[in-house]
Amino acid sequence: AEIIRQNAITVRKAKQLIPRRHPAAHKGVNGHVAIVAGSEAYTGAAALAATGALRAGAGLVTLGVAASLLNLMQMKLTEIITRPLPEIIGGAIGLKAVPYIDELAARCDVLAIGPGLGRAEETMAAVREVVRNCEKPLVIDADGLNALVGHTDVLRDTAALAVLTPHPGEMGRLLGLTPAQVNQDRLGVARQAAHNWGAIVVLKGAPTVVAFPDGEVYINTSGNAGMATGGTGDVLTGVIAALIAQGLSSHDAAVAGVYLHGLAGDIAAHAGQVGMAAGDVAQALPAAYAGLLE
Ligand code: APR
Ligand code: MG
Repeated sequence: AEIIRQNAITVRKAKQLIPRRHPAAHKGVNGHVAIVAGSEAYTGAAALAATGALRAGAGLVTLGVAASLLNLMQMKLTEIITRPLPEIIGGAIGLKAVPYIDELAARCDVLAIGPGLGRAEETMAAVREVVRNCEKPLVIDADGLNALVGHTDVLRDTAALAVLTPHPGEMGRLLGLTPAQVNQDRLGVARQAAHNWGAIVVLKGAPTVVAFPDGEVYINTSGNAGMATGGTGDVLTGVIAALIAQGLSSHDAAVAGVYLHGLAGDIAAHAGQVGMAAGDVAQALPAAYAGLLE
């Protein structure tokens, strides 16, 4: 059997990669993250992804969301710019949203797409169209990944380098495997998928594995079981996008992002793992980031 060289994502590694802030920085140099997320049932997913990006240091964050949810998101999110998108039903974006999202991505440094979008057929088709057209770095999560089930060819067609952040369920759907089968060989499965899709694969869980198309793999060492609660993955989506916006390559943003996110979870867990909420992880991001600058 082939011997796979595994790299641990240690605090030392994360400190090497994390972007430093120039004393004369202005918000323009810290980058602009575009997020397309949410639907009626899942406004929290959009809020958490946007907040994750903000709290991981993005200069600006713009959230594209179905028009009927715009006012609600504006009330939830003070520091986030919002853009209304054409929708079908239930706060789900439709194909008419595609040109608006293309335009948003063109004005931003990175596009994160997927959390809480729902699985309406037209929404899934819109996601695929956006991924196909995109020329900016992409972070694809949750329903953005569900849109690619049976259509992973769009990852080959697009000019964008994508970071995919599946949990074992999403990974299983993409590969026709059960979550248990994915978990049996997390390293091998992530590595093979990254190679086949030409994308960076962040396979979440305990531990999270990061795999690259050339076969390189990393295993994260931060994080804890308190993070096993709804929405913590949405925060990670924003974190990785924010690091790309701040100038890291998608490669380094995936590696440093999973560590930073887990470290924020470890800080939040000082108050207790049980009853931790995803918002607590987002809130702990500045302290985690500061820890990596020491
Ligand atoms: N140890 C360390 N980290 C953990 C642990 C653990 N025991 N449990 C969970 N985590 C981390 C994961 O590594 C990941 O970063 O918490 C995060 C959970 O992310 P998701 O599985 O995506 O969870 P969530 O954000 O709630 O998404 C739930 O959204 O992805 C969609 O529809 C999908 O039902 C799913 C829902
Ligand atoms: Mg998730």
